[in-house]
Amino acid sequence: MCGIVGYIGNREAYEIVIKGLKRLEYRGYDSAGIALLNGSLEVYRKKGKVADLEQFVIDHDHAGMTGIGHTRWATHGEPSDINAHPHTSMNGTFTIVHNGIIENYARLKKDLASNGYHFTSQTDTEVLASLIEYFYRQDDAMDAETAVQLALSKVVGAYGIAVLCKNEPDKMIVARKGSPLVIGLGHGEYFVASDASPIAEYTDQVVYLNDEDLAVLTRNNFTLKNVRNSPVSMKISRLDLEIGSLDKSGFEHFMLKEIYEQPQTIEETFRGRLRPESTEIVLGGLLNVFPDILKAQRIIIIGCGTSWHAALIGEYLLEEYARIPVEVEYASEFRYRKPVIGENDLVIAISQSGETADTLAALQLAKEKNATVIGICNVVGSTLSRETRAGIYTHAGTEIGVASTKAFTAQVTVLTLLALKLAKARNTISDDEYSILLHELADIPRKGRLILEQNEKIKAIAEKYKDAVNALYLGRGYLFSVALEGALKLKEISYIHAEGYAAGEMKHGPIALVDDQLPVIVVAPQDEYYEKIVSNIEEVKARKGNVIAVVTEGDKVLKEMVHDHLEIPASHPAVAPLLAVMPLQLLAYHIALMRGCNVDQPRNLAKSVTVE
Ligand code: AGP
Repeated sequence: MCGIVGYIGNREAYEIVIKGLKRLEYRGYDSAGIALLNGSLEVYRKKGKVADLEQFVIDHDHAGMTGIGHTRWATHGEPSDINAHPHTSMNGTFTIVHNGIIENYARLKKDLASNGYHFTSQTDTEVLASLIEYFYRQDDAMDAETAVQLALSKVVGAYGIAVLCKNEPDKMIVARKGSPLVIGLGHGEYFVASDASPIAEYTDQVVYLNDEDLAVLTRNNFTLKNVRNSPVSMKISRLDLEIGSLDKSGFEHFMLKEIYEQPQTIEETFRGRLRPESTEIVLGGLLNVFPDILKAQRIIIIGCGTSWHAALIGEYLLEEYARIPVEVEYASEFRYRKPVIGENDLVIAISQSGETADTLAALQLAKEKNATVIGICNVVGSTLSRETRAGIYTHAGTEIGVASTKAFTAQVTVLTLLALKLAKARNTISDDEYSILLHELADIPRKGRLILEQNEKIKAIAEKYKDAVNALYLGRGYLFSVALEGALKLKEISYIHAEGYAAGEMKHGPIALVDDQLPVIVVAPQDEYYEKIVSNIEEVKARKGNVIAVVTEGDKVLKEMVHDHLEIPASHPAVAPLLAVMPLQLLAYHIALMRGCNVDQPRNLAKSVTVE
């Protein structure tokens, strides 16, 4: 993970780099640091957030028109000032920021140690900085660029790096393999970042580096080659990026803001695509590949975390309505387990960020096997969107809270549209059912608003269960995945251990956990599974578990039976996840807040997981 920012030009680098780091803080927030070239090379590093770094640097000289910065998600070495980037080579010649993992760093470190090098941090990055310096010092005629190339030729692993050399002050060297890097082209200035968000306000001309590209930037010049010093062609792309505001619009946290945005973002997701009156679903991003999609004999959906939960709902939708076999895979498993994939498969990669390393690697594998590959992604211009032939943007707007909320409902909305479009094209859905579902989907924003009005009630329930040590979430059918998602939300932001289960599985193990201390959150609307899930609730109650049920508005039976309940408006089961997840998001939010947790930036996590 980690975020990198760099600037070289005629403005003060500090402001640009710090602002950029704030945009990239979603990639990690264990520590932050900045290096500025202004005659000398000044390096400031601080454990904690970018704001802590800012506080620290305020009293120091931060002049300089060349700078690099880093926001860290720790891999090698605990979060600390010492392990924070930028890292400087032993003799102070090179300072670098790095996103990725140098897998053979232990070996390289040992070799450098035998050449007299010693290290102050536990990071792999410091090893790389000193390795560059080692090569640089081998020959008086050696320049920084060649030293970087030589060092990278020894490296196994992933890197996105920006390098400054004290002896070549008007230069920045950047390179990537496995970790994204984009260069913004200004007039007499260049911007470097892990994604385009820190760049978009300065220029719309960018170059996305490909694996093993190396660029040398001076104020007025930019050369691109590969790490073996061969020329590569440069493709300048036009940035079409809507920069989400970094403000909370009056909400206490980004997560709360994003939960409340959902009625609107769901609408944004289907706006222009869903036309109930004309019965047509328009997915412009799939036009070129739709014939291939229709030929697919099987669909494989890959993703991680919340995106994987959305994929599960996609599986149910696609199988029920489009009648195509679907498999859902964790990207991290898929990429390593030698799966059987071929040209008759459609592989759908789902990712909010479009930068998740496992998902990108899995989609690469699918491409190599000649499957038709499409993406469902929120971030325009992300690696996933550039690596797929076709796809569907979720249009949920920038999601800043690490716990994914509005991106999930947008992904599910897209999958619903896709399933219905395929069903219609394959003639596997009746006109009536198709039309009912389109109208049900179009009505979700209105119903969502009604759910969000229950915030105070949900807060009161949160107060009762905030001290729980464990929690169990249950659901059936389309709502099984909502149980998984509810449990993930609670555990990632409140640190309460939570498990999501298919309600029918409870009797096969999890029921042993039930006692009078355990909150059991059951998603139990009046659908075809209602009687079954009422029985599951009885089973929990018989063992003195505390049941909090998500019920259909007006359900008197469950209201009487359970300890606490949250209501959602009646809806078609296939669109119910979009509604049922909202009270669970709010419940997790309030519990986390009451426990004093950092809701937007939970410990140990990052918004975008760019390491394996
Ligand atoms: C969700 O709340 C998580 N923070 C996490 O599971 C996330 O969904 C996962 O890392 C995948 O991210 P992506 O959608 O950006 O690929």
